[in-house]
Amino acid sequence: MSSSLALSDSPSLISPRLGQVALDRLPVKLGVMSSGSGSNFEAIAQAISDQRLNAQIEVLVYNNPGAAVNDRATRWGIPSMLVDHRAFGSREELDRAIVQILQTAEVDWVIMAGWMRIVTPVLIHAFDQRILNIHPSLLPSFKGNRAIEQALEAKVKIAGCTVHIVVPEVDSGEIIMQAAVPVFPDDTVETLQNRIHIQEHLVYPQAIGLAAQHSRKQVPQTASEMTV
Ligand code: GRF
Repeated sequence: MSSSLALSDSPSLISPRLGQVALDRLPVKLGVMSSGSGSNFEAIAQAISDQRLNAQIEVLVYNNPGAAVNDRATRWGIPSMLVDHRAFGSREELDRAIVQILQTAEVDWVIMAGWMRIVTPVLIHAFDQRILNIHPSLLPSFKGNRAIEQALEAKVKIAGCTVHIVVPEVDSGEIIMQAAVPVFPDDTVETLQNRIHIQEHLVYPQAIGLAAQHSRKQVPQTASEMTV
């Protein structure tokens, strides 16, 4: 076994710590947006099924025909909607269509999980402070595309992932949760990405629970509670 393989078993640093999220409320209604593989979508669906997250995925929105995430949604019995960005004249038009889908599904929170398009104020203001994104770096370092390549180029020794609230400025907004992982000298984009992905799947469900709990404290009645 190589030293990096042995070391990759060492624990990551996750903050806030993983813990039990209260399950005594109505499930939070989620709309997930994803462009590709959807391993984070899968991790969220699995966490809900395992009762580690009190939520329900009402709809998956995806933009690439043939994206594997759609097959995952089918396997979980979750409705999905294709919004192919190539069919829209502008980012705003695309976001208007997405808002309509998410509002029709009456989602409380929008979860961007590998959504590879820049979103506009049309979406951000429709779900103000209720959109989460996961980014494969320890923000505010390495914003934008190629975050893992940027980390390797900078020769950082610690990398990771961040769940944050989405605001108009890309990869900014309040940080909800982060996980740090070591970077090894022989890492490639793929090996580092795999190490980060493992942490993403742990923290994203937990971060959704945390964000939803926090917002319930600020606003006693959520949209779904008011329909009871
Ligand atoms: C993740 O690494 C996430 O941080 C980034 O896009 C990737 C999506 O992966 N925003 P997946 O589609 O969830 O497997």
